[in-house]
Amino acid sequence: GAMLLWSLWSAILLLPPLEAAEEDNERAGCSTAVNDLVYIVDGSWSVGFSDFDTAKQWLINITSQFDISSHYTQVAVIQYSDTPRLEIPLGKHQSGVKLIQAIQSITYLGGNTQTGRAIKFAVDHVFASSHRASQVKNRIAVVVTDGRSQDDVVDASMEARVQGITVFAVGVGSEITTSELVSIANRPSSAYVLYAEDYTTIEHIQGSMEQKLCEESVCPTRIPVASRDERGFELMLGMNVQKKAKKIPGSLISEAAYTLTASTDITENTRDIFPEGLPPSYVFVATLRLKGSSSKLTFDLWRVLSKDKEIQAAVTLSGKDKTVIFTTTSMTEKEQRVTFKAGFQVGMLYDGKWHQFKVLVRPRQVISFLDDQLIQEIMLEPVEPIYINGETQVAKRRGTDITVPVEIQKLRLYCDPHQSERETACEIHSVVRAPLSAVSTTQSCSQLIKYQLGPQGQRGLPGPMVTHSCTHHFIL
Ligand SMILES: *[C@@H]1O[C@H](CO)[C@@H](O)[C@H](O)[C@H]1NC(C)=O
Repeated sequence: GAMLLWSLWSAILLLPPLEAAEEDNERAGCSTAVNDLVYIVDGSWSVGFSDFDTAKQWLINITSQFDISSHYTQVAVIQYSDTPRLEIPLGKHQSGVKLIQAIQSITYLGGNTQTGRAIKFAVDHVFASSHRASQVKNRIAVVVTDGRSQDDVVDASMEARVQGITVFAVGVGSEITTSELVSIANRPSSAYVLYAEDYTTIEHIQGSMEQKLCEESVCPTRIPVASRDERGFELMLGMNVQKKAKKIPGSLISEAAYTLTASTDITENTRDIFPEGLPPSYVFVATLRLKGSSSKLTFDLWRVLSKDKEIQAAVTLSGKDKTVIFTTTSMTEKEQRVTFKAGFQVGMLYDGKWHQFKVLVRPRQVISFLDDQLIQEIMLEPVEPIYINGETQVAKRRGTDITVPVEIQKLRLYCDPHQSERETACEIHSVVRAPLSAVSTTQSCSQLIKYQLGPQGQRGLPGPMVTHSCTHHFIL
């Protein structure tokens, strides 16, 4: 009897922490990505003691965004010269603090540069040693090198890719050969090869390395844009807007749009839309037309809610105040909101015409654009990973489930912040007609018009170009 009572008690006592742990798992973002991450660092003589210390510090810096544990990211470090040396086995340290100490205490090897051999060692012995091969979502290698390899890198790198390992190549200094880095890294090399002038400036590529590692972890999907594939989320498709709403003519003859009525419900489980959360930087793009009542209401054009209906991310349009509000998570408060105000031309959004609204979100800053014109730049407090246990919705009145009738042509979230510069508002009439303005960089959409009016298919232009390519004029 006592035994039973005791086990009952312990079961009750054990329950809450277990539940709490499960709740925590519902937050998703870069830090909670399930990665096996292997750093392969050049320790040859050309690096030198002091630069080697800088390289170690850089590795520590780019690692700090991950939660180091058996559930999330596990890290291994290989130092190489003539032969590779396993400095830190994969998963040896189950906390960030211990891992940092271990990286700090790595001693410099010295010797020649056999990069191919080191990559092969990583593939055959380090990735292969992972105890959680079935759970791990991303296997990523980061090769940091300052010079030409004295052995062949092609075979080993190819083998890594065959095994599904993503390889980043980081070239430091002027001795590096681009072709070697390109052979080492995944394609496209624009995404997987990074350069730093020397070790003293390697901190300049810390931000882009972090973003790329995060994109790899949380942005698995690709959207075909012009001739390139952009990592991101095509929400028109993902949120089933195209299935649930009626198709209407869009802003240009070549474009289709969808009209939402009060009875359209665009709601999906966040887990299905953003299974790994949101990256630290992203670009939210919406092309839409607000007619009648929708231009006077306050509603969430896009929102991610937790199970308890708390906003994890939202773009809120307020026609009454002629403002746009961006909401995101906060480390210290329940949420943080920034308001793009009237007086910054954001009010144009409510004039009943087609517009493209773009929000560039960075870790500490958010910038909004209307039809390619910069509206406002606002600072952010540090954010937290989002809860993915709730729903993601489109065009809902604030705090309710009521749909606001809007016409939507584009709804996307790109993971690469640079897509903000490439994604032009060529589908907007005013932008097409008034290509040149006083700003120093303007996108002229003349090419787009030409393609539109030109005889279909006779000029041999590739299809996707028709809708998405624009010429860029740089006025110096
Ligand atoms: C690492 O981060 C610290 C703190 O942000 C910074 O001062 C330092 O320059 C960084 N070092 C490298 C090598 O990235």
